[in-house]
Amino acid sequence: MERTYLMIKPDGVQRNLIGEVVSRFEKKGFTLVGAKLMTVSKETAETHYAEHKERPFFGELVDFITSGPVFAMVWEGENVISTARTMMGATNPADAAPGTIRGDYGVQVAMNVIHGSDSPESAAREISIFFTEEELNSYDKTISKWV
Ligand code: PPS
Repeated sequence: MERTYLMIKPDGVQRNLIGEVVSRFEKKGFTLVGAKLMTVSKETAETHYAEHKERPFFGELVDFITSGPVFAMVWEGENVISTARTMMGATNPADAAPGTIRGDYGVQVAMNVIHGSDSPESAAREISIFFTEEELNSYDKTISKWV
């Protein structure tokens, strides 16, 4: 079973979108295995976004993600990495289709509501940056196999 790291960015938290975003992934049928509201340190932000270190907006990206609490999550399910990216929409909300999270709630590329891992390797790396094993809960939905 695949896992991905999703993070509601400071703009999403401050616009009260945590419930809306969580609800979309719950209704889709994915399983929440870890979640916490947290303030990201500069060091953690630089590690998380290390692949963008040479890009001109790197400083702005780190400043933004550390500017207020984020809602960090780990979700589990079949093809959850790519399906979550589809549900999020294009990185630039101006290009994101209506019906996607960024298409419905985002306006500009720096404040695009949510981050999601883009590959199994990124997912494993990002989950380990933000969560310990003890913070993750794997469980079967025993009430019904359909909910
Ligand atoms: S992607 O999905 O990696 O191809 O997107 P990319 O365009 O490379 O952007 C990577 C992350 O950088 C953020 N970003 C910016 N932040 C601040 N200012 C500017 N101009 C800017 N452009 C891109 C973008 O939201 C991506 O963040 P994450 O958290 O990875 O979605």
